[in-house]
Formats: sequence, C-alpha cells, structure tokens
Amino acid sequence: MLAIAKVITLFLTFHLSILPVILADGTKTQTNLHFYFHDLPGGSNPTAIRVAAASVTSTSPTGFGATVMMDDPLTAGPDVSSALVGRAQGLYALASRDEGGHVLMAMNLVFMDQENNGSTLAVLGRNNVFDPIREMPVIGGSGKFRYARGYIHAKTYTFDQTTGNAVVEYNVTVFHQGQGSA
Ligand SMILES: *[C@@H]1O[C@H](CO)[C@@H](O)[C@H](O)[C@H]1NC(C)=O
Ligand SMILES: *[C@@H]1O[C@H](CO)[C@@H](O)[C@H](O)[C@H]1NC(C)=O
Repeated sequence: MLAIAKVITLFLTFHLSILPVILADGTKTQTNLHFYFHDLPGGSNPTAIRVAAASVTSTSPTGFGATVMMDDPLTAGPDVSSALVGRAQGLYALASRDEGGHVLMAMNLVFMDQENNGSTLAVLGRNNVFDPIREMPVIGGSGKFRYARGYIHAKTYTFDQTTGNAVVEYNVTVFHQGQGSA
C-alpha cells in the first residue's frame, strides 16, 4: 500500500511540476508594441462617455466613483488621423477617495492593424494619471496574444484642460503564445 501511495505521490508531483513548464513554453514569444491612445471625452463625437457616478461623486474632491466607458482609437502616431492600430474598449473609473487621478483601468486593446488584426490584449490595472510614466499589467489576450502576460508603460503626450481630451503614448511588452514580432 505504501509503495502504491509513493508511486501516486511521485506521479502527481511529476505532473504538477511539469505543468507550468508546458505553459511557459507556450508563452515564449515576446512582442513590443508602440502606439498612441486617444481618450476623447470632449466635442460632439466623444469616444469616452461617463456612464455612472455615485451620490458623493460630485462633491468628492477626487470625483470618487465616476465611471467612464471608452471606445478610444489607438494610432501609430500622436496625430489621431495617423494609421489606426486598434481601439481601447472598456471602462475606467476614479477609484481613490483621497488621491486625485487614481484610475482603475479595465479594458481590451482590440487590434485592427494588418499584423495583429483581430487579436486582443486584456488590461487591468491602476493608472495614476499624474505620474509621468504609469505601469499597467496585461493579464491576458486572444488570437495571436493567447496566454499574454506583460505590462504597459503609458505617458501623457498632450492633455487639453478644456475638453479633457488626452493623447497618451503606450509601450506594450507582452509574452504570449503564437507568432510575434520582436
Ligand atoms: C481585419 O480583419 C477584418 C475582418 O476579417 C477585415 O475586414 C479587415 O480588412 C482586416 N484589416 C486589415 C488591416 O487587414
Ligand atoms: C517607449 O519606448 C521608446 C523607445 O524605447 C521610448 O523612447 C519612449 O520614451 C517610451 N515611452 C514610454 C511611455 O515608455
């Protein structure tokens, strides 16, 4: 009996220990992406729309609870009319009661360029918009980016105080399964 138990334990240990290796092998491809994110709440054709708020949001010094749905264009250059790379679709919300500019980001980056067309990256993280460079985790992906893991460095390129429109430079580094570009 003891021998059988030992064999079963060995078998389980063996399988548990090789499992992460198999997953890791599938996520070896690294891709770096560089593009500009345009968050355009202003004007007659906004790409970001406030969809929710709490009763305290309007009196909160940080706008706590304000929640915005976005379908923001991602472009190759800082000009919004430069080549479309994809769209950032999802939500952001003011998540701190005390510190201004602390935003929860929950979004999918949906790629539409020739190279990554139809593939997505799932981003969930904290974005302190007043920091010069913010880091956000990439927690998954689909298509070419299946099993994606990585991070984004984001830096405000321009911000218009009147309209609230912002252009943000994004550098994305991800490891994933499938074919990728360096
Ligand atoms: C991306 O895929 C869609 C749907 O298959 C297609 O209509 C579109 O032309 C493709 N875009 C590029 C840039 O390849
Ligand atoms: C993105 O990477 C480029 C090239 O390394 C660098 O010049 C730029 O400052 C980076 N931007 C961010 C937001 O990390």
